[in-house]
Amino acid sequence: MTFVELDGTRREVDAPLGLSVLEVAHKHGVDIEGACEGSLACSTCHVIVDPAWFGRLVPPTEDEEDMLDLAFGLEKTSRLGCQIVITAQLDGLIVKLPPGTRNALG
Ligand code: FES
Repeated sequence: MTFVELDGTRREVDAPLGLSVLEVAHKHGVDIEGACEGSLACSTCHVIVDPAWFGRLVPPTEDEEDMLDLAFGLEKTSRLGCQIVITAQLDGLIVKLPPGTRNALG
């Protein structure tokens, strides 16, 4: 899968099946915070999914939607990285890092 950093740098990394996008990011030192380690209690794992990929993801749960509402720089294809689990269908997934997180701001 590919992470697109704020300055446009694309980082193509190995995304083992069953890991979340947040876990993949951490494995490769990509700068996504994920303060609650995937327990849907923060919005710091916010990523913006490439529109071409957005429709292929499992739709967010209500809890994820609620947390996302708190995310900074929300876009139409925003998701929480800890809730996207890599499957064979997501081979090649592209996500963008958001301009900041609420925690980082204050
Ligand atoms: S890491 Fe906190 S909601 Fe994803």
